[in-house]
Amino acid sequence: MRDLFEAEEGLSLPIVPGAVLLRAFACDRAPQLLGDLEAVLASSPWRHMTTPGGFLMSVAMTNCGALGWVSDRTGYRYDRIDPANGEPWPAMPESFRALARGASAAAGFEEFEPDACLVNRYEPGARLSLHQDRDERDHAHPIVSVSLGLPAVFLFGGLQRADKSKRLPLAHGDVVVWGGPARLNHHGILPLKEGEHPLTGRCRINLTFRKAG
Ligand code: SIN
Ligand code: FE2
Repeated sequence: MRDLFEAEEGLSLPIVPGAVLLRAFACDRAPQLLGDLEAVLASSPWRHMTTPGGFLMSVAMTNCGALGWVSDRTGYRYDRIDPANGEPWPAMPESFRALARGASAAAGFEEFEPDACLVNRYEPGARLSLHQDRDERDHAHPIVSVSLGLPAVFLFGGLQRADKSKRLPLAHGDVVVWGGPARLNHHGILPLKEGEHPLTGRCRINLTFRKAG
């Protein structure tokens, strides 16, 4: 009942000024998004990137859109080319773009034009430590983050790393949008719990949309 009711109501929960959780916003479109993701993966498969410090990330990643987020020993950056195959990243599927634009508008950020979609895959145990998204050229644009598959706990902190974080349980179809005064807030994902989801199997998939260039 919960998903149905809340999807119909379009439940929008404020997190902090500039950040909202759109409960179940992507539920109806999830099968289409996951289908379109398969085509992206056929060109640019999952990979575990290396941090500048030399650690392998527990989250597997790929990208679509004109720009892709990349991490290696030299640092973090956006690149037009997938370093794994030397080719441009796959185009952003129209279903992805439409969802990102609909969610940003629902959160009060009109005319979002994402040029980058980072796709994250969390298997049980994978986590993303508290960080800021600051590799984008202009922080005036919001971030749209879509959760698919297994649930996770999202940490949403403040501008300072030491600020207290809120813990938000995210379920399949939930979308978090942050921008404006919250654009540079710290955030992260606690280690994923074991589980099995009918659409994704034993993982959580996150699509993070940004205007990076
Ligand atoms: C990210 O911060 O890039 C991803 C957050 C998430 O997986 O929900
Ligand atoms: Fe992030």
